[in-house]
Amino acid sequence: MIHWLTQPITELGRQIDAMFYWILAITGIVFILVEGLLVYYIIRYRRTHAEQQGLDYHGNTKLEVLWTLVPALILVVIGYFCVPLVQAAQTPPSNAIVIQVIGHEWSWEFKYPNGVDTQGSEPLRIPAGQNVLFKITSGDVIHDFWVPQFRVKQDAVPGRETRVWVNVTDTDIGTYPLRCAEYCGVLHSQMVSTVQVLSPADYQSWLDGQAKAAASKAQADQLKAQQAKQTGSAPLGDATNGQKLATQFGCLSCHAIDNTQKAGPSWKGLAGTQVPLSDGKTVTADPAYLKESIQSPTAKVVKGYSPIMPQTQMSDSDVNDLVAYIQSLK
Ligand code: CUA
Repeated sequence: MIHWLTQPITELGRQIDAMFYWILAITGIVFILVEGLLVYYIIRYRRTHAEQQGLDYHGNTKLEVLWTLVPALILVVIGYFCVPLVQAAQTPPSNAIVIQVIGHEWSWEFKYPNGVDTQGSEPLRIPAGQNVLFKITSGDVIHDFWVPQFRVKQDAVPGRETRVWVNVTDTDIGTYPLRCAEYCGVLHSQMVSTVQVLSPADYQSWLDGQAKAAASKAQADQLKAQQAKQTGSAPLGDATNGQKLATQFGCLSCHAIDNTQKAGPSWKGLAGTQVPLSDGKTVTADPAYLKESIQSPTAKVVKGYSPIMPQTQMSDSDVNDLVAYIQSLK
C-alpha cells in the first residue's frame, strides 16, 4: 500500500483508511473510464472534413436509467460500509477514561479524571491500549480538535459538549501533532500542540505526580498569602513560575520583555509606571491593575493599542505568579 498519509494509530483509524482506499479505487476507476471514453470519442469521431455534420440524437431512456442507477447503487454500497464506521466513532465504550478538552484563544486546556488540569502549551497525555473519551467544548469561539493520526476530528463549540473517543494501539507510543482545525482568530495558526501517547504505567505516574505537585503548590500559595498578609509587602506570586506561564500561554508573542514594538504593550519596566489609557485617563501599573489587565483584558486599554487580547482561563494563583514576573522586569 502507498503511504502518502501519516500512519493512523488506532484500529478505527486503520479501518477508516481502508475505507478511504476502497472509495479512492472505485472513484478512480470511474474517473479513468469516463475521461478515457471522452478522449477516445473526441479523437475517434472528430470532424475530418469541413462539411461533415454531427448526428442529431434525442436522448436514450435505457441509457439514462442505467447511468443514474449504477452510480446510485455504488453510493448505496459505499454508504452501507461507511455507516458502521461512523457509528463506531461516535459510540464511546462505557469503560473509557474521560478527558475534558477545552479550546481557548489560542491554546488547549485538558482536565484529567483526578482533577489535574493542564493549560497553555502543555501537551495532551493519554495511555496507550485504553479507551479514552474526549468531551470537547470551548471557552470562547469555535475551535476544532484534530489529531491527524486519530483520523477523527471534532469541533469545539462554546456552550455545547461534543465527543470523540480513541484507543491508541499499544505499539504506537509516541508524540503526535494536535492542531486546531477551525479558523479562530489572529493566532489560529499558532494553536498547535501535541498529544503524548504513554504506556499506561507512565501515564498513571505522570498523573499522580501532577496531582501531588498541585496539592503542594496550593499549600505553598496559602502560606505565602498568609505571610503577605502579615508583612503587607511580599509579592503574592512566584516570578519564576510566572515566567514559565508567560511562555506557556503565549503572552510573549504580543508582549515584549525588552521594549521592542509588538501587538501589546511591553512589560519591561512597566510595573509602577503611569500608563496612559485610550479613554484619556491614566492609571498606575500596580499589582491590581496588572491583575485586572490579565483577567479582563479589555477593561482598560492602553493608549495606542487595540482591544485584541483574548480572555485566558488562568487560576488566581497563576495570575499572581504572572504579575510577580511582570513586576520583576525592571
Ligand atoms: Cu482555535 Cu483555530
